[in-house]
Amino acid sequence: MRLIIEKDYDSVCRWAAQYIMNRINAAPSFVLGLPTGSSPLGVYRELSAYNREGKISFKKVTTFNMDEYIGLPADHPQSYHYFMEENFFKHIDIDRNNVHILDGIAADPVAECRAYEDAILKAGGIDLFLGGMGADGHLAFNEPGSSLSSRTRIKTLTPGTRIANARFFGGDMEKVPSTALTVGIGTVMDARELLILASGYAKARALQAAIEEGLNHIWPLSCLQMHPRAIIVCDEEATDELRVGTVRYFKETESAYRVSN
Ligand code: GLP
Repeated sequence: MRLIIEKDYDSVCRWAAQYIMNRINAAPSFVLGLPTGSSPLGVYRELSAYNREGKISFKKVTTFNMDEYIGLPADHPQSYHYFMEENFFKHIDIDRNNVHILDGIAADPVAECRAYEDAILKAGGIDLFLGGMGADGHLAFNEPGSSLSSRTRIKTLTPGTRIANARFFGGDMEKVPSTALTVGIGTVMDARELLILASGYAKARALQAAIEEGLNHIWPLSCLQMHPRAIIVCDEEATDELRVGTVRYFKETESAYRVSN
């Protein structure tokens, strides 16, 4: 696992956006997994700017989003369909036929999840999955205790996640749907590369558990330890619970890496 420690949120986003741009420019028919939440907003802003400036094209890129609330139609302002359109897709030259997001109002959610896994396979698998992390270490909507080999399915959200996401629903936790469709940990792990963003003190405990503690379903993000190509990009604040020696180790490793590349 690589841990990239940047000064602040903006530099985290710049690093991640440049990394993704380089990958897509090297292989334009790229299959990209995408998250929602506050963490990726800066990455979407940077990538949109690169697109406007002609540095990258998304015309051949296929995307798969991580999750969607059950019960929210695509035009609901808090749906992840709406989020993606507003914050990313309407700013770039992506072909909407290549965009995949789980349907939160599917008549048969189980069939919807199965079809999603099939669509990922048909696209040749995900090249890079960009992700954020919950303060409790959740990945997509794989809450603590999720099977580390889970596939796309229905999940019940924990009160902690509903409280954290209430900020998007006028601060009212009761308005946050209690269930969601989400890719599984196994689905994310199948991606050829993982790039996870962590910013701020609120993510410090989850980051520490994912990096310094063992593989454990209570901290779903610890699954990264099993992935052959996982990168976490974080800011200084998010490292607050890591040991001094751990931070130094990863900083030294990265500067050695930069010198040799
Ligand atoms: C939600 C999403 C996750 C995201 C998490 C953290 O629960 N389902 O994919 O990583 O929020 O969000 P934020 O980046 O806003 O802290």
